Amino acid sequence: MNSNPTSSTAADSYADLVARKRVIVACGTGGVGKTTMAAATAVAAAQSGRRAVVVTIDPAKRLADALGIDRLGNTPTEIDGAWPGTVGAMMLDTKSTFDDVVTRHATSSEQTEHIFNNRFYVNVSTELPGTQDYMAVEKLNELHFSGEWDLVVVDTPPTRDALAFFEAPKLLTRLLDNTIYKLLISPHPGVLRAVNRAAGGVVRRLSRVVGAEVVDDAIEFFQAFQGMEEGFKQRADETLALLASDETAFVLVASPRNDTISEALYFLKRLADANLSVHAVVINRILAAMSTSAEEAAQLHARLDQGPLAGAAQALLDHVNTAAGDGDRIAQLMAYVPDATLTTVPLMPSDVHDIPMLSRIAELLAQDAR
Ligand SMILES: Nc1ncnc2c1ncn2[C@@H]1O[C@H](COP(=O)(O)OP(=O)(O)O)[C@@H](O)[C@H]1O
Ligand SMILES: [Mg+2]
Repeated sequence: MNSNPTSSTAADSYADLVARKRVIVACGTGGVGKTTMAAATAVAAAQSGRRAVVVTIDPAKRLADALGIDRLGNTPTEIDGAWPGTVGAMMLDTKSTFDDVVTRHATSSEQTEHIFNNRFYVNVSTELPGTQDYMAVEKLNELHFSGEWDLVVVDTPPTRDALAFFEAPKLLTRLLDNTIYKLLISPHPGVLRAVNRAAGGVVRRLSRVVGAEVVDDAIEFFQAFQGMEEGFKQRADETLALLASDETAFVLVASPRNDTISEALYFLKRLADANLSVHAVVINRILAAMSTSAEEAAQLHARLDQGPLAGAAQALLDHVNTAAGDGDRIAQLMAYVPDATLTTVPLMPSDVHDIPMLSRIAELLAQDAR
């Protein structure tokens, strides 16, 4: 079931991944603690002396609060902490990242201006679903090849589709190779109808749906884009190769609760179908183990049922039952990824809101749990 049995890293512990990988991609559905675990992973790497940077997608700015700084920008801010390495943190700004990419690949400043002023570009760079994924991949590439970081940790955008992040660069390459795209960028839009009726039909249908103006903007955008395709494609290929290489590890963050485990299972299946290996599973918010067994808790509950301690007995019984259910669900999840390393992080008494708590989670993650 695990897709890449030849990978030499399949059995690495989380500590090994943190100490050796160049890229760690945290995936999973939203709300499970993905941003927190991504940040803690960067802290763990810094604790082992590495220069680590975490790219978070966290519009709530909660991570900035947790890190004790006012705000995070689109370039790394160094976080102070008692670690021998370095932690850089940044919050992905999709629009500025897209602007940087255009500036980098443009052949002239006129071309950059032309694209920035195009309405279609403004929409694509801010609102199009998938742009956030693509720009996260772009940022990863930029940080990795800058040579300034030993490890880049990417907190993938919250999405229901497990593969959106991995497919973003492929989608672009496919678009640029597309015949309709090539016809669209033809300097003579009239050619569309004359040369290719199918493409002309597409444009006419599109015009009816989104309005002729939007289509004109799009055609103008793709024309302005000419000459930049090679740079874009090369970069997409470069990043895909990096993601597929031994330098990258994928970490699935999940919660053991009944209502979220099925989402994690679905996520794993999608990744396996796409031949992507998961190197580690982090189960976040597990309940503290109790010395009381389920039977003992049930007996106690029966005995104290009517008395003043009935509420406490019920709480203990619920806790023990939930913890037992969690164990079963974790086993069910791990059966899909037998080669992945399992790491657990307990439910903390409060939100993770300062560096000491983040450091504590980092230590738990990097404990060799094999
Ligand atoms: N192990 C934990 N114990 C207690 N609170 C946690 C734990 N992990 C995460 N949290 C809290 O849960 C909330 C959601 O975490 P976050 O990392 O933002 O999730 P995601 O990025 O998956 O949406 C945050 O307030 C965070 O502090
Ligand atoms: Mg998040």
